[in-house]
Amino acid sequence: NILHQNKIHYMKKISSLATCLLFLTLSSFLTIQVTAQTKPSLSKETPDQKLKRMQWWKDARFGMFIHWGLYALPARHEWVKNQERITNETYQKYFDEFNPDLFEPKKWAKEAKAAGMKYAVLTTKHHEGFCLFDSKYTNYKATNTAAKRDLVKEYVDAFRAEGIKIGFYYSLIDWHHPDFTIDEVHPQRPLINSDTAYARLNKGRDMTKYRTYLYNQVTELLSNYGKIDIMWLDFSFPGKYGKGKDDWNSVELIKQVRKLQPAIIVNNRLDLASYADGEDFDTPEQVSPKELEKYKGKTWETCQTFSGSWGYYRDENSWKTHRQLLDLLITATSNGGNLILNVGPTARGEFDYRAINALDSLSQWMHANSKAIYYCTFAPDTFQVPEKDKLTYNAAAKRLYVHLLEYPAAGNLVLPGYKGKIKYAQFLHDNSELKMKEEGNDILLTMPVKKPGYEIPVVELTLN
Ligand code: GLC
Repeated sequence: NILHQNKIHYMKKISSLATCLLFLTLSSFLTIQVTAQTKPSLSKETPDQKLKRMQWWKDARFGMFIHWGLYALPARHEWVKNQERITNETYQKYFDEFNPDLFEPKKWAKEAKAAGMKYAVLTTKHHEGFCLFDSKYTNYKATNTAAKRDLVKEYVDAFRAEGIKIGFYYSLIDWHHPDFTIDEVHPQRPLINSDTAYARLNKGRDMTKYRTYLYNQVTELLSNYGKIDIMWLDFSFPGKYGKGKDDWNSVELIKQVRKLQPAIIVNNRLDLASYADGEDFDTPEQVSPKELEKYKGKTWETCQTFSGSWGYYRDENSWKTHRQLLDLLITATSNGGNLILNVGPTARGEFDYRAINALDSLSQWMHANSKAIYYCTFAPDTFQVPEKDKLTYNAAAKRLYVHLLEYPAAGNLVLPGYKGKIKYAQFLHDNSELKMKEEGNDILLTMPVKKPGYEIPVVELTLN
């Protein structure tokens, strides 16, 4: 009898546990449904269509950012106008002196291509408001300087000729336009934030007019230069004295962008995160490789400078080393993201020698190792990452790449738990065999004592 009662007791327990589980599953299913539903969509694109639209960009993994504008003349940060609270009148000298006599975007495009960069994004207008393109809505443009021509057009032609996809950066912020209201990052911001201070400063400024200007310029950019692959809009900073989606009219803007260029890929700085399709990719800026690991599984591109600033900065000396740049590229790929690396050309229109050196080193590495980057992403969880190394993975090619951030000293590379998973092993840069032997569940690769001549050599494993 006691046994029987115990049985009933357990049965009851189990059935209440099952109800509990069922309830939990149902409710989590419902919350997923609800959260998915609560975000409205701006377009009718299906997830499948989106995947297809984004595919080339994910496969590419590596792009070139180019920050170029009048700020190349002061050569002390592209935010110089803000940092030194410079007025339009004082800043005018940079417009008057702008004369990029060495501007040859074909050279830029060749450098980008050699470094293995598959797309480029140029600042058509940065926060200072100066337009590199021939806009009919402003006189503050390259055609009215000694350059006398549409520099965006030349960039587009040169990069397209090299088979590099074309991106436009366009600053939502504008520190030159008379209707752009003064906010907390404007060069003419008040010394002490207060409603009255802003009201006084913004008398006569009309954001409605600026919004139209912004809309018209984006329309020009996406109508006059053929197929544009990427739109990089920068940036929103919602808050009391900031700006966000209502200031830009982001909803209408992104609709117009997608209408003019249906296949375009748009970044996430329009402040449209409340929409299911308000952004195509995340943009972690200047973060460490460690930080990038948090983005695994998302769609993202990390933007990084060679040194501390985006625009040409003559006296900035904190240039990243070749190893740091490679680490960023490998870490991005091994976490399913892209890297866009920035060059800030000089006021004469050239890449600085430090940028050229960095690009040349990258081109050597990419020449030998790009198979471990293009079409690659993070490895399946079943592969343990060998200590201190990083893995990238090409599913279609059934290849796993081990990036040797630290070259094995003992003459063996241990692949933990890889027994039965590997068909063949070689160095990627020269297809030279690396002999395999089994030890328990591990595979040991016999490595040459001398490290090959690449900062981070790559082992290519053909999978079973
Ligand atoms: C920033 C900066 C800027 C740079 C950009 C690149 O938000 O304002 O100068 O253009 O990010 O990511």
